Amino acid sequence: MPNSEDLKTFQGKIIAIDGPAGSGKSTTAKLLAQRLGFTYLDTGAMYRAVALAALRRKIPWSDGDVVAVLAAQVVIEFVPDATRGQLTLLDGEDVTEAIRSPEATAGSSAVAVHPGVRAEMVKRQKELGRHGNIVAEGRDTTSVVFPRADLKIYLAADIKTRAQRRYLEAVARGDKTTVEEQIRLLEARDKNDSERAVSPLTRVPDAVLVDTTGLTIEGQVEKIFALAFRAFASKP
Ligand code: DC
Repeated sequence: MPNSEDLKTFQGKIIAIDGPAGSGKSTTAKLLAQRLGFTYLDTGAMYRAVALAALRRKIPWSDGDVVAVLAAQVVIEFVPDATRGQLTLLDGEDVTEAIRSPEATAGSSAVAVHPGVRAEMVKRQKELGRHGNIVAEGRDTTSVVFPRADLKIYLAADIKTRAQRRYLEAVARGDKTTVEEQIRLLEARDKNDSERAVSPLTRVPDAVLVDTTGLTIEGQVEKIFALAFRAFASKP
C-alpha cells in the first residue's frame, strides 16, 4: 500500500484508462481508484444505464433522438458501497447487476453511437471530474472527456485473453456461454466500437500502452500505479 506522502503526489489528478472490451479496464480502474482513495468514473456504466432505461420504456436503441432525450432525463449516480465497492443507481434504483446483462451490454454499444447521447454523457462526466481525484475508464476518456488528463493509459490484451476473462465473468454471473462465443461477441463489439463515426476506439498518441496479456489484475494495478507515481513525481 502507498503511504500518505506517496498519495500526496496524486492529489487532484485525473487518470484516464481506455482500451478494448475485456482488456481489464474496469477492474484495474476500480482497484486503482480504491488504492488512491479516488472516485472511479465508470463511463461504460452510464451508457449501459441509458440502454437499460430505453429497454424498460420500450424505446428502440436505434432511435437516436428519443434515446438522447431519455439520456438527458435519467439520473445516474455512483455511490460507494462497503461490500460491493461502488453501486450504479438509475433514477435511484440499484442497477449495478442489471446493466451487466447480455441485453444491456448489447444495448450500450447501440446507444453509444448516437451523438446526442454521447454529448449528454460527456457533459456529465466532465462535471464529475471537475475537481480531479478521479480514475476514469472508458472509450473516449483519454480523447474527448479528459483530453488534459494527467496520465492516460491504453490497456491492450490479445483476444483470447480478453475472451477468457469475459467467459469467467459470465460464468460467475451464472450465464451459459463458451470462450468461442465470447470471442465472437468481442470481435463484433471491437468492430462496432472502432468503426463508429463518433469517438471510435482509438489509442491517442500520448496514452501509455500497457499490454495486460499474462498479467494478473494485481500486476496491472501495480504497473499503472508505478507509472503514475513516476509521471507525477517528475511533473508535480
Ligand atoms: O466498458 P463497457 O463494456 O461497460 O462499455 C459499454 C459500452 O458503452 C461499449 O460498447 C462502448 C460504450 N462506451 C462508450 O461508447 N464510451 C465510453 N466512454 C464507455 C463505453
